[in-house]
Amino acid sequence: MFQAAAKTLSAASTASVSRGLSSSFRYYCEKTLRVSEALSGAELGTDVKVQGWVRSVRPQKTNLFLHVNDGSSLQSLQVVAGSELNDPLLTFGSAVEVTGILKKSPHQKQPIELEAEKIHVVGKCNPLDFPFKIKERHDLEYIRQFPHLRCRTNAFSSLLRIRSEATTAIHSYFKENGFVQIHTPIITSNDCEGAGELFQVEPSGPDHDEDQNFFSVPAFLTVSGQLHLEVMSGAFSRVYTFGPTFRAENSQSRRHLAEFYMVEAEVSFTQSLEDLTKVMEDMFRSATEHVLAHCAEDVDLFHKHVTPGHRGTVEAMTKRRFPVITYSEAIDILNGSSQKFVFPTNWGCDLQTEHEKYLVKHCGNTPVFVTDYPYDLKPFYARDNLDRPKHTAAAVDLLVPGVGELCGGSLREERLDLLSARLEAVGLEDTYSWYLDLRRFGSVPHGGFGLGFERFLQCILGVDNIKDVVPFPRFSHSCPL
Ligand code: 4AD
Ligand code: MG
Repeated sequence: MFQAAAKTLSAASTASVSRGLSSSFRYYCEKTLRVSEALSGAELGTDVKVQGWVRSVRPQKTNLFLHVNDGSSLQSLQVVAGSELNDPLLTFGSAVEVTGILKKSPHQKQPIELEAEKIHVVGKCNPLDFPFKIKERHDLEYIRQFPHLRCRTNAFSSLLRIRSEATTAIHSYFKENGFVQIHTPIITSNDCEGAGELFQVEPSGPDHDEDQNFFSVPAFLTVSGQLHLEVMSGAFSRVYTFGPTFRAENSQSRRHLAEFYMVEAEVSFTQSLEDLTKVMEDMFRSATEHVLAHCAEDVDLFHKHVTPGHRGTVEAMTKRRFPVITYSEAIDILNGSSQKFVFPTNWGCDLQTEHEKYLVKHCGNTPVFVTDYPYDLKPFYARDNLDRPKHTAAAVDLLVPGVGELCGGSLREERLDLLSARLEAVGLEDTYSWYLDLRRFGSVPHGGFGLGFERFLQCILGVDNIKDVVPFPRFSHSCPL
């Protein structure tokens, strides 16, 4: 019996390899073709089955035309059927299974079509109640009201394919450059950034003793995997993590979420901040070029219809080297500007979004690194530049058009005496005794950075609101589904 099964599987594998799908996957859904595969023309003249959702219905006297989309590409597959296959349940939004023969289409716009032999309505959809209307271009703000249905729109399905491909691009970049991926924990007892923007984790339920911590110490959702990456950089030299990150920021801004994805890298044996800015710039460029090349149609939809004119900005970003200015230079630029800022711009102030956006424009609407921030603005781990009287830390932010801060990073304080003095000053030397151990046993100069993945997508697509680049946005006062 096993032999017979193996035979069937191997026959299925041969067919599937030619279609570019893994053999075992093809085995389970034999004969079902993805719309993108159908449109590639690979199966012309053969009998196939396509499953998806109806994007348009056009009944004519003798023929019925449908467009079916299954999320595999922005393009839908045109289905042509005799009018006898028409069914009142075939409406915009309904789910269908169509069997028939793939043919070359006489129409230039649509090179391949499916000549239907059978159309089965798998799930009906009342077009009067469905929030999206046939042939209407709904804006991102409108579709955001329907987090459970917006993946059925062209814009949001394009966004999610781009997001998926950008994820691949980032993993590929690190793999190609010798980084080891570390799954840093989501539940942790540390507040890496020290900003107190933590969500506490406690069990709920009747058996839970409220006076006792489940983990014996207060535990939180991670605000950054950095400290765990620093542990691992002490053995692997180059490590990265890419996962969900949580901040209890009470912010309704267009660039903050309570749950977002962060890409973080940590590199050992660094000589200067330049070792980090090189990786940041290289990763940004490589991921952007990958997305532009592998999601051309989806990206075009954004650059043509959602954020017209943004294409030029993105292409320019990938061509020029990113300028580097110090925080002190940034302050001089802001103070020399005729623009009136809401927030102060004296030395020592944190840069606000309005400042970041101004600096980006000032430098030619291109990404720009700002380095050497005031020491007191940065968390305990940032490396002291030991400069006086200004006193700065070896920290760097990458600011980008339309968004402002995309990445934050620093060299880490690897000198035991300086680090323990700083921790002692804030009463944290016991909490971080394990972190001090890293400086006791084979400490090396090292540094790293974090990139906000949603902000990266905003930047390359020109999307104004961060809630439009995440599958299910979580922010203060809102956690639907
Ligand atoms: O600048 P941040 O706070 O840096 C860190 O957490 C470092 N420990 C990272 C490291 O060195 N490994 O955060 C890094 C980036 C920001 O530049 C921003 O792009 C993004 O994470 N970010 C957010 N994105 C969306 N919503 C929020 N609430 C964000 N907070 C930070
Ligand atoms: Mg930051």
